[in-house]
Amino acid sequence: MKKLVVLSGSGISAESGISTFRGGGGLWNNYRVEDVASIEGWHRNPGLMLEFYNGMRADLPHHAPNLAHTLLAELEKEYAVTVITQNVDDLHERAGSSHIIHLHGEVTKVRPEDCYTDRDGYSLRYVQDIGYGSIQMGDTGGPNKRQLRPHIVWFGEAVPNISAAAREVSEADILLIIGTSLQVYPAAGLVSYAPSRCRIFVIDPGEVSAHGATHIQAPATEGMKKLIKML
Ligand code: APR
Repeated sequence: MKKLVVLSGSGISAESGISTFRGGGGLWNNYRVEDVASIEGWHRNPGLMLEFYNGMRADLPHHAPNLAHTLLAELEKEYAVTVITQNVDDLHERAGSSHIIHLHGEVTKVRPEDCYTDRDGYSLRYVQDIGYGSIQMGDTGGPNKRQLRPHIVWFGEAVPNISAAAREVSEADILLIIGTSLQVYPAAGLVSYAPSRCRIFVIDPGEVSAHGATHIQAPATEGMKKLIKML
């Protein structure tokens, strides 16, 4: 089987009604990124951060995977598919994809703030799946009973899954970039790991600098239908 690696971003979930990061509208526009998506924000006001991610988690069951997520999952019949996603939602999982690397974490999971660090080798041991539930200040876990925090990679933090993701891209026969502006590193740098034989497709309704890739300029669902005809 040929290896197809997908790098997805918030644009793939746009047609499921989840707003993109930089596109305007929705959740992110009411908050400053520094307040809800940086480690400094967590140290400054953890209560606000918890409230923000509790809201995002509670909202998630109201959004279903769209055809783009589903078609990606179906590609597993013909390809060895790895989905590398910058998204913290669970729509790839719910659509049935079986090999997913979340670069920026998962909103449905939490962990004690002193666990999953460089010191413990980013061990998942104390990471808990809380589904669409919420956590509050004073909720603790792990060996040292420390405050629980969202299992999300914030600005200012390491991206522990980046090397596993780079390895996947370096073995790809086909790389599909879908719904990401590729403005955030280290995710944006993953493309450079693609071997020279790799065919690269970009699905995005916006203008992109495609660098030798085939740009399917369409929303994710329509773009996926077109891609399947081109493969
Ligand atoms: N289908 C496909 N792509 C779409 C759609 C759609 N229906 N609607 C918008 N897009 C495209 C936009 O044109 C844009 O290129 O999705 C992209 C979204 O880009 P961003 O908003 O920058 O989101 P993303 O690339 O996922 O952001 C990466 O930044 O803030 C951090 O950690 C956060 O994971 C996030 C990272």
